[in-house]
Amino acid sequence: MPSKFQTSTCEFLRRPRTSADQPWIETLLQARWGGTKMVVHNEIIDLSMLPAWVMDPQRGLATYRVSPSGAELLSLDAITPGQGVGSALLDALITALRRDGVPSLRVTTTNDNIAALRFYQRRGFTLQSLRPGAVNAARAHKPEIPLIGHNNIPIRDEIDLSLTLV
Ligand SMILES: CC(C)(COP(=O)(O)OP(=O)(O)OC[C@H]1O[C@@H](n2cnc3c(N)ncnc32)[C@H](O)[C@@H]1OP(=O)(O)O)[C@@H](O)C(=O)NCCC(=O)NCCS
Repeated sequence: MPSKFQTSTCEFLRRPRTSADQPWIETLLQARWGGTKMVVHNEIIDLSMLPAWVMDPQRGLATYRVSPSGAELLSLDAITPGQGVGSALLDALITALRRDGVPSLRVTTTNDNIAALRFYQRRGFTLQSLRPGAVNAARAHKPEIPLIGHNNIPIRDEIDLSLTLV
């Protein structure tokens, strides 16, 4: 269900994506992830084809997929950080998944992304696994993945976190 979301200065609308969102979603993914295709846990996934929650007007995007074993958050982007957009999109997704009886939500991040590790753990996610060198392997499929990431840390490893929903 769409719902309003208020910060100190603006009012946004949080809602599931539609096909009309395709062009700006592709532009956002290109700008933030170097393309619509993500290489993660040895899979190539086109994020622009996934279901998503969006924050209007084009302020944020959370792409995800659901399988019988649980859901996976593939990307979460807040155009302006620290305004609550990431939290609001994650809340909307979790509420919808719980309503549908989905047992868990998984997310993968990289070793350099300290902000994301903090963000997810503050919201109840726990560390599940570490794949040393997984990003180095992913570069064979997506050479655009930068060598150096957040905080000037080399991007090398994938880290999975998970949140139990039931
Ligand atoms: C990680 C990310 C999604 C977080 O989204 P965000 O919108 O910045 O997150 P929020 O604003 O909801 O929360 C961040 C902090 O700001 C605080 N905050 C929320 N609303 C606020 C407001 N109006 N004013 C000031 N601070 C606020 C929150 O309390 C939170 O702190 P906490 O974790 O101690 O509770 C975002 O920084 C991002 O897009 N990162 C780049 C992409 C990425 O790495 N994604 C994750 C891997 S998939």
